[in-house]
Amino acid sequence: MADLRTSICGVELRSPVIAAGGTFGYGLEFGGIADVGSIGAIVTKGLSREPMAGNPAPRVTETASGMLNAVGLQNVGVRAFVREKLPALRHVGTPVIANVFGFRVEDYAEVLRVLEGAGGLAMYELNVSCPNTRHGGLEFGADARQLSRAVSAARAAVDRRPLLVKLSPNVTDIREMARAAVESGADGLSLINTLRGLAVDARARRPVLGAGSGGLSGPAIKPVALHMVHQVTQATSVPVIGMGGIATAEDVVEFLLCGATCVQVGTASFWDPARVANLPGELGSYLDAQGTASAAELRGTLLSPG
Ligand SMILES: Cc1cc2nc3c(=O)[nH]c(=O)nc-3n(C[C@H](O)[C@H](O)[C@H](O)COP(=O)(O)O)c2cc1C
Repeated sequence: MADLRTSICGVELRSPVIAAGGTFGYGLEFGGIADVGSIGAIVTKGLSREPMAGNPAPRVTETASGMLNAVGLQNVGVRAFVREKLPALRHVGTPVIANVFGFRVEDYAEVLRVLEGAGGLAMYELNVSCPNTRHGGLEFGADARQLSRAVSAARAAVDRRPLLVKLSPNVTDIREMARAAVESGADGLSLINTLRGLAVDARARRPVLGAGSGGLSGPAIKPVALHMVHQVTQATSVPVIGMGGIATAEDVVEFLLCGATCVQVGTASFWDPARVANLPGELGSYLDAQGTASAAELRGTLLSPG
Protein backbone atom coordinates (compact mmCIF):
# COMPACT_ATOMS: atom_id res chain seq x y z
CA MET A 1 0.00 0.00 0.00
CA ALA A 2 1.12 3.58 -0.67
CA ASP A 3 3.27 5.17 2.03
CA LEU A 4 1.14 7.65 3.99
CA ARG A 5 3.75 8.58 6.58
CA THR A 6 4.20 12.32 6.85
CA SER A 7 6.59 14.49 8.79
CA ILE A 8 5.53 18.00 9.80
CA CYS A 9 7.63 20.40 11.89
CA GLY A 10 9.71 17.40 13.00
CA VAL A 11 6.68 15.40 14.19
CA GLU A 12 6.14 12.01 12.53
CA LEU A 13 2.54 11.14 11.64
CA ARG A 14 1.30 7.78 10.32
CA SER A 15 -0.88 9.60 7.80
CA PRO A 16 -1.44 13.22 6.69
CA VAL A 17 -5.11 13.08 7.80
CA ILE A 18 -5.81 14.98 11.04
CA ALA A 19 -9.06 15.53 12.99
CA ALA A 20 -9.82 19.28 12.96
CA GLY A 21 -10.03 21.53 16.02
CA GLY A 22 -13.47 21.92 17.58
CA THR A 23 -15.03 19.12 15.55
CA PHE A 24 -13.60 16.06 17.34
CA GLY A 25 -14.19 16.92 20.99
CA TYR A 26 -11.09 16.37 23.12
CA GLY A 27 -10.28 13.30 20.99
CA LEU A 28 -11.75 10.90 23.55
CA GLU A 29 -15.44 11.07 22.66
CA PHE A 30 -14.99 9.18 19.37
CA GLY A 31 -13.25 6.17 20.90
CA GLY A 32 -16.25 3.83 20.60
CA ILE A 33 -17.24 5.03 17.12
CA ALA A 34 -14.03 5.26 15.13
CA ASP A 35 -10.55 3.72 15.05
CA VAL A 36 -8.88 6.83 16.45
CA GLY A 37 -5.50 5.07 16.23
CA SER A 38 -5.57 5.27 12.41
CA ILE A 39 -5.76 9.07 12.37
CA GLY A 40 -2.53 11.01 11.76
CA ALA A 41 -3.16 13.39 14.68
CA ILE A 42 -6.00 14.85 16.71
CA VAL A 43 -6.52 18.58 17.23
CA THR A 44 -8.35 19.27 20.48
CA LYS A 45 -11.25 21.62 21.01
CA GLY A 46 -10.05 25.19 21.44
CA LEU A 47 -8.61 25.71 24.93
CA SER A 48 -8.91 28.98 26.84
CA ARG A 49 -7.52 30.34 30.05
CA GLU A 50 -10.85 29.92 31.89
CA PRO A 51 -13.74 27.49 31.20
CA MET A 52 -16.31 28.81 28.70
CA ALA A 53 -19.99 27.86 28.49
CA GLY A 54 -20.41 28.73 24.79
CA ASN A 55 -23.34 30.32 22.96
CA PRO A 56 -27.10 29.83 23.34
CA ALA A 57 -28.76 27.18 21.10
CA PRO A 58 -29.28 26.64 18.26
CA ARG A 59 -25.54 26.44 17.68
CA VAL A 60 -25.41 24.77 14.26
CA THR A 61 -27.55 24.82 11.15
CA GLU A 62 -27.21 23.09 7.80
CA THR A 63 -26.67 25.25 4.70
CA ALA A 64 -26.32 24.37 1.01
CA SER A 65 -23.31 21.98 0.96
CA GLY A 66 -22.18 23.20 4.35
CA MET A 67 -22.84 24.06 7.94
CA LEU A 68 -22.97 27.30 9.90
CA ASN A 69 -21.89 27.12 13.54
CA ALA A 70 -21.72 29.43 16.49
CA VAL A 71 -20.69 27.01 19.24
CA GLY A 72 -18.93 29.84 21.01
CA LEU A 73 -15.71 28.01 21.88
CA GLN A 74 -17.24 26.05 24.77
CA ASN A 75 -14.47 24.23 26.66
CA VAL A 76 -13.40 23.13 30.13
CA GLY A 77 -10.48 25.56 30.30
CA VAL A 78 -6.80 24.70 29.91
CA ARG A 79 -6.15 23.60 33.50
CA ALA A 80 -9.08 21.14 33.59
CA PHE A 81 -7.97 19.88 30.15
CA VAL A 82 -4.51 19.05 31.48
CA ARG A 83 -5.93 17.48 34.64
CA GLU A 84 -8.94 15.58 33.29
CA LYS A 85 -8.57 14.97 29.53
CA LEU A 86 -4.87 14.75 28.71
CA PRO A 87 -4.03 11.69 30.87
CA ALA A 88 -6.57 9.55 28.94
CA LEU A 89 -5.54 11.07 25.58
CA ARG A 90 -1.96 9.89 26.12
CA HIS A 91 -3.20 6.28 25.88
CA VAL A 92 -4.83 6.77 22.48
CA GLY A 93 -1.41 6.55 20.80
CA THR A 94 -2.13 9.34 18.29
CA PRO A 95 -0.23 12.65 18.38
CA VAL A 96 -2.28 15.41 19.98
CA ILE A 97 -2.24 19.02 18.82
CA ALA A 98 -3.60 21.49 21.38
CA ASN A 99 -5.76 24.22 19.82
CA VAL A 100 -5.39 27.46 21.77
CA PHE A 101 -7.34 30.73 21.74
CA GLY A 102 -7.72 33.94 23.68
CA PHE A 103 -9.31 37.35 23.67
CA ARG A 104 -6.16 39.26 24.68
CA VAL A 105 -2.53 38.64 23.74
CA GLU A 106 -1.74 37.59 27.33
CA ASP A 107 -4.43 34.90 27.20
CA TYR A 108 -2.60 33.04 24.43
CA ALA A 109 0.68 33.17 26.33
CA GLU A 110 -0.92 32.03 29.58
CA VAL A 111 -2.70 29.02 28.03
CA LEU A 112 0.54 27.97 26.32
CA ARG A 113 2.55 28.29 29.52
CA VAL A 114 0.16 25.85 31.22
CA LEU A 115 0.45 23.42 28.29
CA GLU A 116 4.27 23.69 28.24
CA GLY A 117 4.26 22.20 31.72
CA ALA A 118 2.25 19.15 30.59
CA GLY A 119 3.41 15.96 28.86
CA GLY A 120 1.68 14.12 26.02
CA LEU A 121 1.31 16.85 23.41
CA ALA A 122 2.90 17.00 19.94
CA MET A 123 2.26 20.58 18.80
CA TYR A 124 0.30 23.74 19.44
CA GLU A 125 -2.17 25.34 17.06
CA LEU A 126 -3.10 28.98 17.64
CA ASN A 127 -6.66 29.89 16.65
CA VAL A 128 -6.45 33.57 15.74
CA SER A 129 -10.06 33.84 14.49
CA CYS A 130 -11.08 35.25 17.86
CA PRO A 131 -12.31 38.73 18.73
CA ASN A 132 -9.54 40.90 20.17
CA THR A 133 -11.38 42.58 23.04
CA ARG A 134 -8.78 45.38 23.24
CA HIS A 135 -9.31 46.24 19.56
CA GLY A 136 -13.07 46.55 19.26
CA GLY A 137 -13.61 42.83 18.79
CA LEU A 138 -11.77 42.66 15.45
CA GLU A 139 -10.34 39.16 14.88
CA PHE A 140 -6.61 38.88 15.71
CA GLY A 141 -6.18 37.15 12.39
CA ALA A 142 -7.74 40.01 10.41
CA ASP A 143 -5.02 42.55 11.21
CA ALA A 144 -1.35 41.82 10.51
CA ARG A 145 -0.08 43.93 13.44
CA GLN A 146 -2.38 42.33 16.00
CA LEU A 147 -1.65 38.91 14.56
CA SER A 148 2.09 39.54 14.94
CA ARG A 149 1.63 40.57 18.55
CA ALA A 150 -0.34 37.42 19.39
CA VAL A 151 2.10 35.10 17.60
CA SER A 152 5.17 36.81 19.12
CA ALA A 153 3.70 36.43 22.62
CA ALA A 154 2.92 32.79 21.93
CA ARG A 155 6.41 32.20 20.55
CA ALA A 156 7.98 33.69 23.66
CA ALA A 157 5.89 31.35 25.84
CA VAL A 158 6.88 28.08 24.14
CA ASP A 159 10.07 26.29 23.18
CA ARG A 160 9.13 22.69 23.83
CA ARG A 161 6.91 22.01 20.81
CA PRO A 162 6.26 23.37 17.32
CA LEU A 163 3.85 26.30 17.01
CA LEU A 164 1.25 26.28 14.24
CA VAL A 165 -0.84 29.37 13.50
CA LYS A 166 -4.32 28.76 12.12
CA LEU A 167 -5.25 31.54 9.73
CA SER A 168 -8.63 33.17 9.24
CA PRO A 169 -10.02 33.37 5.69
CA ASN A 170 -11.95 36.55 6.57
CA VAL A 171 -9.23 38.81 5.18
CA THR A 172 -8.41 40.68 1.98
CA ASP A 173 -5.08 38.93 1.33
CA ILE A 174 -4.27 35.82 3.36
CA ARG A 175 -0.64 35.90 2.17
CA GLU A 176 -0.05 39.07 4.19
CA MET A 177 -1.30 37.29 7.34
CA ALA A 178 0.73 34.18 6.54
CA ARG A 179 3.93 36.22 6.21
CA ALA A 180 3.19 38.12 9.44
CA ALA A 181 2.66 34.85 11.32
CA VAL A 182 5.88 33.29 9.99
CA GLU A 183 7.96 36.42 10.67
CA SER A 184 6.63 36.41 14.25
CA GLY A 185 7.69 32.81 14.87
CA ALA A 186 5.14 30.36 13.45
CA ASP A 187 6.74 27.00 12.59
CA GLY A 188 3.80 26.06 10.37
CA LEU A 189 0.40 27.33 9.25
CA SER A 190 -3.09 25.80 9.29
CA LEU A 191 -5.83 27.11 7.02
CA ILE A 192 -8.65 27.80 6.65
CA ASN A 193 -10.86 28.50 9.63
CA THR A 194 -14.57 29.13 8.97
CA LEU A 195 -15.93 31.97 6.81
CA ARG A 196 -18.29 34.45 8.53
CA GLY A 197 -21.91 33.91 7.55
CA LEU A 198 -25.52 34.46 8.53
CA ALA A 199 -28.48 32.09 8.19
CA VAL A 200 -31.90 33.76 8.26
CA ASP A 201 -35.25 32.26 9.29
CA ALA A 202 -37.50 34.21 6.92
CA ARG A 203 -40.75 33.24 8.66
CA ALA A 204 -39.52 34.20 12.12
CA ARG A 205 -37.62 37.18 10.60
CA ARG A 206 -34.65 36.32 12.83
CA PRO A 207 -31.19 34.78 12.51
CA VAL A 208 -31.36 30.98 12.79
CA LEU A 209 -28.45 30.69 15.25
CA GLY A 210 -28.76 31.73 18.87
CA ALA A 211 -25.67 33.93 18.59
CA GLY A 212 -26.75 35.59 15.32
CA SER A 213 -23.97 35.07 12.80
CA GLY A 214 -21.66 32.05 12.64
CA GLY A 215 -18.83 30.32 10.78
CA LEU A 216 -19.40 28.52 7.48
CA SER A 217 -17.65 25.18 6.91
CA GLY A 218 -17.99 22.00 4.87
CA PRO A 219 -17.85 21.24 1.11
CA ALA A 220 -19.22 24.72 0.27
CA ILE A 221 -15.90 26.32 1.31
CA LYS A 222 -13.50 23.84 -0.34
CA PRO A 223 -12.69 25.97 -3.42
CA VAL A 224 -11.91 28.97 -1.17
CA ALA A 225 -9.69 26.79 1.02
CA LEU A 226 -7.81 25.26 -1.93
CA HIS A 227 -7.15 28.70 -3.40
CA MET A 228 -5.85 30.05 -0.09
CA VAL A 229 -3.68 26.99 0.58
CA HIS A 230 -2.20 27.36 -2.89
CA GLN A 231 -1.54 31.08 -2.34
CA VAL A 232 0.03 30.58 1.09
CA THR A 233 2.28 27.67 0.12
CA GLN A 234 3.65 29.81 -2.70
CA ALA A 235 4.16 32.85 -0.45
CA THR A 236 5.90 31.14 2.52
CA SER A 237 8.27 28.24 3.05
CA VAL A 238 6.83 26.74 6.26
CA PRO A 239 4.68 23.57 6.15
CA VAL A 240 0.95 24.08 5.70
CA ILE A 241 -1.99 22.04 6.99
CA GLY A 242 -4.95 22.51 4.64
CA MET A 243 -8.62 22.19 5.52
CA GLY A 244 -12.07 23.21 4.41
CA GLY A 245 -14.68 20.76 3.13
CA ILE A 246 -12.54 17.63 3.02
CA ALA A 247 -14.52 14.38 3.07
CA THR A 248 -12.96 12.04 0.48
CA ALA A 249 -9.53 10.74 -0.52
CA GLU A 250 -9.71 12.82 -3.68
CA ASP A 251 -10.33 15.96 -1.58
CA VAL A 252 -7.15 15.13 0.39
CA VAL A 253 -5.16 14.73 -2.83
CA GLU A 254 -6.40 18.11 -4.11
CA PHE A 255 -5.01 19.83 -1.00
CA LEU A 256 -1.68 17.97 -1.25
CA LEU A 257 -1.36 19.03 -4.91
CA CYS A 258 -1.95 22.64 -3.82
CA GLY A 259 1.03 22.38 -1.48
CA ALA A 260 -0.40 21.18 1.84
CA THR A 261 1.79 18.80 3.88
CA CYS A 262 -1.18 17.53 5.91
CA VAL A 263 -4.93 18.06 5.97
CA GLN A 264 -7.62 18.35 8.62
CA VAL A 265 -11.18 17.05 8.45
CA GLY A 266 -13.88 18.89 10.40
CA THR A 267 -17.50 19.13 9.28
CA ALA A 268 -17.48 15.67 7.66
CA SER A 269 -17.33 14.20 11.20
CA PHE A 270 -20.80 15.67 11.83
CA TRP A 271 -22.45 13.53 9.15
CA ASP A 272 -20.10 10.54 9.47
CA PRO A 273 -18.24 10.30 12.80
CA ALA A 274 -15.93 7.61 11.37
CA ARG A 275 -15.04 9.69 8.25
CA VAL A 276 -11.68 10.97 9.48
CA ALA A 277 -10.63 7.53 10.78
CA ASN A 278 -11.61 5.83 7.51
CA LEU A 279 -9.92 8.39 5.26
CA PRO A 280 -6.29 7.17 5.64
CA GLY A 281 -7.27 3.71 4.34
CA GLU A 282 -9.27 5.26 1.51
CA LEU A 283 -6.36 7.54 0.65
CA GLY A 284 -4.01 4.53 0.52
CA SER A 285 -6.35 2.72 -1.90
CA TYR A 286 -6.75 5.86 -4.03
CA LEU A 287 -2.98 6.33 -4.33
CA ASP A 288 -2.51 2.62 -5.12
CA ALA A 289 -5.08 2.86 -7.91
CA GLN A 290 -3.20 5.89 -9.31
CA GLY A 291 0.15 4.12 -9.05
CA THR A 292 1.41 6.77 -6.61
CA ALA A 293 3.93 5.39 -4.12
CA SER A 294 3.55 7.98 -1.37
CA ALA A 295 1.31 10.83 -0.26
CA ALA A 296 4.34 13.06 0.30
CA GLU A 297 5.42 13.01 -3.35
CA LEU A 298 2.17 14.75 -4.40
CA ARG A 299 2.89 17.86 -2.35
CA GLY A 300 2.86 21.04 -4.41
CA THR A 301 2.79 19.28 -7.77
CA LEU A 302 -0.28 21.06 -9.19
CA LEU A 303 0.31 21.71 -12.88
CA SER A 304 -0.43 24.99 -14.68
CA PRO A 305 -3.86 25.33 -16.29
CA GLY A 306 -4.36 24.13 -19.84
C1 LIG B 1 -18.63 23.07 15.14
C2 LIG B 1 -17.26 23.61 14.81
C3 LIG B 1 -16.43 24.02 15.84
C4 LIG B 1 -15.15 24.52 15.55
N1 LIG B 1 -14.33 24.90 16.57
C5 LIG B 1 -13.06 25.32 16.29
C6 LIG B 1 -12.14 25.61 17.35
O1 LIG B 1 -12.46 25.48 18.54
N2 LIG B 1 -10.89 26.04 17.01
C7 LIG B 1 -10.51 26.17 15.70
O2 LIG B 1 -9.37 26.57 15.44
N3 LIG B 1 -11.36 25.87 14.69
C8 LIG B 1 -12.60 25.44 14.95
N4 LIG B 1 -13.46 25.11 13.92
C9 LIG B 1 -12.99 25.23 12.51
C10 LIG B 1 -12.54 23.89 11.94
O3 LIG B 1 -11.46 23.35 12.68
C11 LIG B 1 -12.12 24.03 10.46
O4 LIG B 1 -11.08 24.98 10.35
C12 LIG B 1 -13.26 24.49 9.56
O5 LIG B 1 -14.50 23.95 9.99
C13 LIG B 1 -13.05 24.11 8.08
O6 LIG B 1 -12.91 22.72 7.90
P1 LIG B 1 -14.17 21.74 7.54
O7 LIG B 1 -14.87 22.35 6.35
O8 LIG B 1 -13.58 20.39 7.28
O9 LIG B 1 -15.07 21.74 8.74
C14 LIG B 1 -14.73 24.62 14.19
C15 LIG B 1 -15.59 24.19 13.17
C16 LIG B 1 -16.84 23.69 13.46
C17 LIG B 1 -17.72 23.22 12.32
